[in-house]
Amino acid sequence: MKFSECVYLLADSKSRRSCFCTILPAALLLCLVFFIGNAFIAPDYKQKLSVWGLTGSLQNFKSNKCENRCRPYGSEALPEGIMSQTSNLELRPLWGFPEKDANSSLGLFAVAVGIKQKDLINKMVRKFLSSQFVVMLFHYDGNVDKWKGFEWNDHVIHVSAINQTKWWFAKRFLHPDIVAEYSHIFLWDEDLGVENFNPKRYLSIIKSEGLDISQPALDRYKSVELHHQITIRVRRSIVHRRTYKPGLNGKGCDASSTAPPCTGWIEMMAPVFSRAAWRCVWYMIQNDLIHAWGLDMQLGYCAQGDRTKNVGVVDAEYIIHYGRPTLGGMDGNETNSSVKNQTSKSKTASSTKQASSHRHHHPLDHRYDVRRQSYRELDIFKKRWNKAVEEDKCWVDIYQ
Ligand SMILES: *[C@@H]1O[C@H](CO)[C@@H](O)[C@H](O)[C@H]1NC(C)=O
Ligand SMILES: *[C@@H]1O[C@H](CO)[C@@H](O)[C@H](O)[C@H]1NC(C)=O
Ligand SMILES: *[C@@H]1O[C@H](CO)[C@@H](O)[C@H](O)[C@H]1NC(C)=O
Ligand SMILES: *[C@@H]1O[C@H](CO)[C@@H](O)[C@H](O)[C@H]1NC(C)=O
Ligand SMILES: *[C@@H]1O[C@H](CO)[C@@H](O)[C@H](O)[C@H]1NC(C)=O
Repeated sequence: MKFSECVYLLADSKSRRSCFCTILPAALLLCLVFFIGNAFIAPDYKQKLSVWGLTGSLQNFKSNKCENRCRPYGSEALPEGIMSQTSNLELRPLWGFPEKDANSSLGLFAVAVGIKQKDLINKMVRKFLSSQFVVMLFHYDGNVDKWKGFEWNDHVIHVSAINQTKWWFAKRFLHPDIVAEYSHIFLWDEDLGVENFNPKRYLSIIKSEGLDISQPALDRYKSVELHHQITIRVRRSIVHRRTYKPGLNGKGCDASSTAPPCTGWIEMMAPVFSRAAWRCVWYMIQNDLIHAWGLDMQLGYCAQGDRTKNVGVVDAEYIIHYGRPTLGGMDGNETNSSVKNQTSKSKTASSTKQASSHRHHHPLDHRYDVRRQSYRELDIFKKRWNKAVEEDKCWVDIYQ
């Protein structure tokens, strides 16, 4: 129904501060009914309203303070002050209260993990915990108990679901209302090296640079998989927002490029989202497209402004991408012969290293299947996007 979206836009701009409603079609319908007036309200409906003490306020509705009280759907029966609309992932003691939440967390670090990558995960988790982050592990291999040896085990949140991807977990467990207290969400893959990465310094850089969507640059020498030039670290730089590449038939990247993958774009192995950007991205993640291919190309719409300014790669704090086979992949080391070649290809997002370009189909190797599935999803996502654009007459494409 077009109506509710349009009204939502109206409500949003008019009373952004007073009402923080995500979905409120029913409430809006009710408001509209009030506007239209008594005449159209059936008697029994009126009676129902009076039960809720609403008919009394009908007369002075136009002038009164309740006008802007748009409330989250389902909460209308409660006095406003009792509503607890957002949550967090803070662990709390069974008795007593934690010492004043004065130092609430700086951010949330969430990563999909398998026990085989425990060496890398250990380093990441230590780093983020010691930087006052809340850490959340998404276990895709069922090995939750095997992490008990780590002293930090009881201080992180474990979520386990077999063979699920980072995006599957994120859609289900990182709802924007749940993570609303964190200024930034780090949603990373597990095969990353963080020797040259400091979370606090990273945060201060993206804040001062105004990056709503970002990723740390990739070490060009130590990384095994480098898919896109824009993600590669630039020496003696703090942040870069575009890449330059001479191109065939005008397909290269230069100072006038305005679109991904030349600018306004990051890869999906180590994205960092501001709170506002995450709220938008969460909506875009599709429940059934768990590899999230294609999402990266549209991220710019969630950049809270111009994607060529608010999306960037941080060079000063950088990581190594090891390209290890993970979910769906084989044991052991991934061969790396063909990956560097992909730099030139226009491959889109992948959180799945197993999807590197292996043509041979090993019986125990599901990378090929995962890759094929990822392409299917990409196709579906593109079609869905185009259909949505076509059908939404209120939507304006700021990048056209
Ligand atoms: C809170 O942070 C301040 C500095 O930002 C620090 O001095 C203080 O010790 C911290 N308190 C706790 C309980 O961590
Ligand atoms: C999970 O994936 C692996 C292959 O990577 C497969 O062998 C296993 O049966 C899957 N488990 C479930 C419960 O689907
Ligand atoms: C992968 O290769 C490295 C050396 O290149 C080796 O140290 C490591 O044990 C290998 N990992 C597996 C799981 O075989
Ligand atoms: C990648 O492959 C080359 C040979 O193609 C090999 O020399 C190199 O050690 C490999 N790197 C890693 C990290 O496995
Ligand atoms: C890159 O791919 C081309 C063919 O697509 C191949 O001839 C070449 O050997 C590859 N290079 C590497 C380093 O794998």
